[in-house]
Amino acid sequence: MDDISDKALRSEIVNLHKLTGLTILILMVLRLLWTLVNPKPALPLGTPDWQKSAERTVQFLIYATLIAMPIVGWVMVVAGGHPPHIFDFMLRLPIAQSKAVRNIGGDIHFYLAWVIILLVSIHILAALYHHFIKKDEVLRRMMP
Ligand code: HEM
Repeated sequence: MDDISDKALRSEIVNLHKLTGLTILILMVLRLLWTLVNPKPALPLGTPDWQKSAERTVQFLIYATLIAMPIVGWVMVVAGGHPPHIFDFMLRLPIAQSKAVRNIGGDIHFYLAWVIILLVSIHILAALYHHFIKKDEVLRRMMP
């Protein structure tokens, strides 16, 4: 987004980013409701306690950050006076415009991106560890 010099195109792409982020928010809320109703399968027998708590912590943080990220994004753009839009329909929030909220939101949005990248990397490495080193079913059973 940062590298697009054409202003009109940039604004379209940024809006697409906002709508994609809001779609992720909807999917994450649905996913959260799904997991509350359908508990996920337990880790294989004999998994050490520290790995069980690491799994729970990382997965909780992935849910939390993937819900917080789009909310922060939405609040910051509404506070900045540029709500996401679908054609002419503005997706506003009941909050006032504020430069301070826009700036703090922008900082949180930036740092949360790195936290998500870190968490997803740990998640992928752990799945590969299960598959190639522990040789159990954990990666296979994530597949559809
Ligand atoms: C899971 C959802 C989202 C992810 C992973 C995400 C990720 C990112 C990342 C990595 C950046 C670049 C950060 C930087 O360099 O400062 C960014 C920028 C931005 N995001 Fe998001 N975002 C999400 C949702 C949203 C939502 C829902 C909105 C607004 C409704 C939004 C609005 C923005 C804006 C306005 C920028 C700055 C664009 C610019 O002017 O360069 N984001 N986002």
